[in-house]
Amino acid sequence: MNKSGRALVTSVIDGAAMSSGRTLPSTNPAHIEEVVAEVAFGDASTFVRAAESAKKAQEYWAAIPAPIRGRAIAHIGRLVEDNAEALARLVTAEIGKPYGEALGEVREIIDTCDFFLGEGRRLYGQTVPSEMPDKQLFTFRRPVGTVAVITAGNFPVAVPAWYIVPALLAGNTVVWKPAEYSAASSAAFQELLVRGGGLPDGVFNVVHADGAATFSGLEQALEAGLVDKVGFTGSSTVGREIGGLTGRYLQTACLELGGKNPLIVTPSADLDLAVEGALFSGFGTAGQRCTSLGTVIVHESVHDRFLAQFNAAVARARVGDPTSDVLMGPMMDAKFADRFEEFLGWIQPHHAVQGAYGKITDDNPRDGFLGDPSTGLYYHPVVVDGVRPGDRIFMEETFGPLVGVTSYQSLNQAIELANAPGYGLSSSIYTTDPKDAFTFRDKISAGMVSINNSTSGAEAHLPFGGNGKSGNGSRQSGIWVLDQFTRWQSVNWDYSGRLQKAQMDIVELTPDTTYRL
Ligand code: UN1
Repeated sequence: MNKSGRALVTSVIDGAAMSSGRTLPSTNPAHIEEVVAEVAFGDASTFVRAAESAKKAQEYWAAIPAPIRGRAIAHIGRLVEDNAEALARLVTAEIGKPYGEALGEVREIIDTCDFFLGEGRRLYGQTVPSEMPDKQLFTFRRPVGTVAVITAGNFPVAVPAWYIVPALLAGNTVVWKPAEYSAASSAAFQELLVRGGGLPDGVFNVVHADGAATFSGLEQALEAGLVDKVGFTGSSTVGREIGGLTGRYLQTACLELGGKNPLIVTPSADLDLAVEGALFSGFGTAGQRCTSLGTVIVHESVHDRFLAQFNAAVARARVGDPTSDVLMGPMMDAKFADRFEEFLGWIQPHHAVQGAYGKITDDNPRDGFLGDPSTGLYYHPVVVDGVRPGDRIFMEETFGPLVGVTSYQSLNQAIELANAPGYGLSSSIYTTDPKDAFTFRDKISAGMVSINNSTSGAEAHLPFGGNGKSGNGSRQSGIWVLDQFTRWQSVNWDYSGRLQKAQMDIVELTPDTTYRL
């Protein structure tokens, strides 16, 4: 607590809270006057000190047997489960994610812990036959070392868990830089991680800093050899910067970036189901998921029917107070609201929008709004019909409650439209024709494909990640993320008592290649 009685969130390095001169409030976007926490900001040197602390603790942490680290993950999962409602309430208060979705987000941490608690007893390597006698070959997974995790605030606790849980399990120590606007949620998660896991000081460090200080601190830490791996979730623009920086230090970052996720509606689709899927993937988390729906690409024969049903569903949807049962609450933070206003400016005369759009106010009201819109950063959900490849709104991510609609004639054309923006995170097709589904799976550029399901809402144990502008091919979750946080070590053990040279000292069997039946 600080003098005013508000929670003060600070960086935590080597188990100690770091006070700092500069504090900024993290506010409730549903009640912008309400300060959820004051956040003490560090600078580049705070980041470097955190990396030093992680580096110092890493050998000790890696020496703890993996099954014991797995038990730590198990306890973290149980403590998160026992605090699920409180953590979800905080997420709702701080970023305005509807409570039901916030509970789902917390569940995603528990699912991740459930998966990795057993991995501590696996972390399998292999035994491999040698080409020579009296020699054995093996592979071992080794921790990478110290991991810097830099995350956005739209999933302020679940997405960080996707990095932190497997990183710790595999024997790495961590520096986490959460988003400024979700600092209180991150502080709560940090408590659950450290207390639940019984983590020794230095194993898990948290830095609160702005983007520029973080980048400069990361650069210094890389230069000093204090960071061995970077995990980043955020925009494609910053992802490029992080990818470039880590590349200079011969590292590949684990990058989870933006998306312009398409949803194709074929003539055979169950339209009610497609509308339900488009509604949730377009407007859940107020369209601020990296997996949120970008553009619906609908066959011309069902376009008008789909659009009418979709517009009606959007008009009916409950919008407002995120602590109640709504489809959509406010934008997460003023910075996202401001940017969304810019995206709305991309709507052009050739586009068709039904109903109001922009900020929900007394002059620009929404029927059935739950609560008082003037207290928060509430926007109308908007459907923009008639988008096409030359439009910014078609080509670029519009993080917020905006869904484009366009039509197609042939499936190949639909897939071309789906791939045109050059992202490649998530995608969806609604169809009852297996040929359409398999053709789509084969030709779509996305790393994640849904068939008759929304673009968002991936399960926590399947590979998560994208291609093109959505990432560099890295995958999170399940067994696949282990390749991000471990490196393969290959071992050969020769017990023949002589130097056996690979490729040279090998027995040759003589085949009879001239034999014919
Ligand atoms: C993100 O927005 O960065 O698949 C992650 C989903 C969620 C995770 C989204 N499970 O929509």
